[in-house]
Amino acid sequence: MCGIFAYLNYLTPKSRLEVLDLLVTGLKRLEYRGYDSTGVAIDSPDSKNIVMVKRMGKVKVLEDAIQEHFTGGEYSEPVATHIGIAHTRWATHGEPCERNSHPQRSDEGNGFVVVHNGIITNYNDVKTFLRKRGYEFESETDTEVFAKLVHHLWKTHPTYSFRELVEQAILQLEGAFAVAVKSKHFPGECVAARRSSPLLVGIKTKTRLATDHIPILYGKDDKKQTSDQETRPHGQTRELPVLPRSDSTSEFMPLEEKEVEYFFASDASAVIEHTNRVIYLEDDDVAAVRDGTLSIHRLKKSLDDPHAREITTLKMEIQQIMKGNYDYFMQKEIFEQPDSVVNTMRGRVRFDGNAIVLGGIKDYIPEIKRCRRLMLIGCGTSYHSAVATRQLLEELTELPVMVELASDFLDRNTPIFRDDVCFFISQSGETADTLMALRYCKQRGALIMGITNTVGSSICRESHCGVHINAGPEIGVASTKAYTSQFISLVMFALVMSEDRLSLQQRRLEILQALSNLADQIRKVLKLDSKVQELAKDLYQHKSLLIMGRGYNFATCLEGALKVKELTYMHSEGIMAGELKHGPLALVDDSMPVLMIVLRDPVYVKCMNALQQVTSRKGCPIIICEEGDEETKAFSSRSLEIPRTVDCLQGILTVIPMQLLSYHIAVLRGCDVDCPRNLAKSVTVE
Ligand code: F6R
Repeated sequence: MCGIFAYLNYLTPKSRLEVLDLLVTGLKRLEYRGYDSTGVAIDSPDSKNIVMVKRMGKVKVLEDAIQEHFTGGEYSEPVATHIGIAHTRWATHGEPCERNSHPQRSDEGNGFVVVHNGIITNYNDVKTFLRKRGYEFESETDTEVFAKLVHHLWKTHPTYSFRELVEQAILQLEGAFAVAVKSKHFPGECVAARRSSPLLVGIKTKTRLATDHIPILYGKDDKKQTSDQETRPHGQTRELPVLPRSDSTSEFMPLEEKEVEYFFASDASAVIEHTNRVIYLEDDDVAAVRDGTLSIHRLKKSLDDPHAREITTLKMEIQQIMKGNYDYFMQKEIFEQPDSVVNTMRGRVRFDGNAIVLGGIKDYIPEIKRCRRLMLIGCGTSYHSAVATRQLLEELTELPVMVELASDFLDRNTPIFRDDVCFFISQSGETADTLMALRYCKQRGALIMGITNTVGSSICRESHCGVHINAGPEIGVASTKAYTSQFISLVMFALVMSEDRLSLQQRRLEILQALSNLADQIRKVLKLDSKVQELAKDLYQHKSLLIMGRGYNFATCLEGALKVKELTYMHSEGIMAGELKHGPLALVDDSMPVLMIVLRDPVYVKCMNALQQVTSRKGCPIIICEEGDEETKAFSSRSLEIPRTVDCLQGILTVIPMQLLSYHIAVLRGCDVDCPRNLAKSVTVE
C-alpha cells in the first residue's frame, strides 16, 4: 500500500539525474507494496522551483517519462545539497490518475509538495475551511488538503520554521498517515512525520556510524529554534475549525554530520542498498532535517516516551530483496520455504534435547498458562495460519482458542478480559485492522503477543511479547513463506505450552520429529512444480475452482482459494468438506473444476465420503493425497502425492502445491504475479 521514498544529500554532491535515479530505484523497491500510480519531485535547475513528474501505472512508466522530461545538461550538474521526494500511490480518495498521484502541491507555484500514505479522515472539514480562504483544489485526494494547509499556515505564521508548519498542520488532521514534505521556501530541508503508518529514516555517512558513538542528545531545548519558540506561543491556528493544543515537547536528538545522506522510506527494503542504519519513527514523531542535522520531535508527550530513538542496524541483506534467478518474487519465496521454515526454528528448537525456547515470550509463559482463553487475530493469510493451528493449540494447551478476523472482531466489539491472551498475527506488522484490534485488546488489559515478520513494525513495538517468524523479507504481494513460518511459530508455541504435560509427551515427540524432517519434505513437494504447471494448463481457462478438505487441511482450502483469487482473478472457494451436502454440492457437475485434499489422518474416512459425493455427481477432482496411497489415487486421473507427516503439520505440505498452482495459473493468464490488481502488501488503512 502506498510507498514513500525521499532522499536528502547534504554536502554530498549529486546531479539531479543521479537523484532521480535513486528515487526511481527506491520506488522499485516499494513496488511490492501495491500501487497504481507514481510520482517524483526535485528542484528545478536554478533551485528556485520544484519540478514534478507523475504517471499512472508502473514505476517503469515513470522512469521513461523522467528520461523524456529531464534532458537538459543542467540536470547532470552536481548539487551539494538537495532533497527529492517520491511516491507510489494506492488509490483511496479519487481514482488512480496523474492528477491524484503524489506529490500533491500547495499551490500553482509548488511552494510545498507532499507525499502521503494513509487517510486523513477529517479532510472534508479542512477542505471547506481552506476553500473559504480562497484555496482551489485540483485533485480529489485527502493529501492535497495537507499541502494546502501547510501553505496557509506559512502565510499566516511567517516566522514558523518548516518543521513547526508541518507540526501545526498535523495537529489539525485526524486519521492515520505518514508524510514527507519538501518546500521551495525551505530549500535543502525535509520534514517527515508518522501517525499509525510506518516510516523510517535511513542515515548514510562517510565515516562509520555506530549507535554508541553518535552524539545523540536529548534535552528540553531545540537549540536551533529556541528563540522562536520562546517568543511565539505554540498552539493552534485560531481560525482553524479543529483546535487541538500543540504540546510539542521540543525534545530532540539532533544528529549532526558534515556530509550526510538521509532516506525517508515506508520500509527498509527501499534503503538497505544505501545504508543499514535506520531509525523507526514512532506515532506522533516529526523528523526534520535542516542544515544536514536530523532532529526528532514529539507532537504529544506521554509518560512512557523513551528518551531517544535508537539507530537500528538492519540485518537484512540486499540479496534478500533481489529476485535472483527467479521470474517473480512470489516464485522465489515459494522456493525459499525449505530455508525459511528452518530459520523460523533456528535457535529455538533443540531436536536433540526435544526442547523449545521462544526467547520473546519465555518470561510470560507462567502468565499465559493461567489465562482464560487464547485469541488469535489476523487478516487474510495471517488469519488462515490461525485457522491451521487452532486444533493443535486446543489439544496441547487445553485452553479455549478463538480465531478471529480482525475487522469482524472490531465490528462486534468483542468482549475481552484481563486474563485473555491475544495473538496478533501479521507478516507486515502494519495491517491497520490487526493493529486496531491490538490496541482494543490492550486497552482492556489483555496480554498482547505479536507474531510478525517485520522487526520494528508497529505490531512488534506495541506488543507485550512476541515471536518474530524470521521468514526473511516477503516482497510478492501474495503471502507464501510468511504463512508457513507463522504456522510453525504457532506450533512451536503449542509445544512450549505443553512442555510439562506428561500425558502429551509422546505427541510432542512425534511433532518434533516431524519438524526436523520438514525442510526435506518441503523440498520434495517443490519437485512437483512441473506437474502442478501441467495441471495449471488444464485449469487456467476456467472461471472457477473449488478446493475441498477438512480437519487440519481446511485452512489449506481457504488459503489455496485466497491465493487463486488474488493472483489469477478467477473465482475460487475453500469448502469445508463436511459442509458439502449443506449446499456447495449443488455446484458440482462434470464441468466444475474441483481440488480435494484427502490425507491419511483421523478424518480420512470422512474425506473419502466427500470424494465419493463429488465423483458420483460426475465431478472429476484433482486429488492431493499421500505418497503411495493407491486406493485414494484410484478415484481420479489427476493427483499430487505429498510425503507423509504428522497430521498437524500436513497443512504446510498441502499448501505448497496450492501456492504453486495459483502462481502457474496467474502466469498462464498473463496476470501480474507480484503485484495483483487492487491489492497492497501492507494494508495500512481500515
Ligand atoms: C494474501 C495476503 C493478505 C495478507 C493480509 C494480512 O496473500 O497477503 O491476505 O495476509 O493482508 O497482512 P499481514 O499479514 O501483513 O497483516
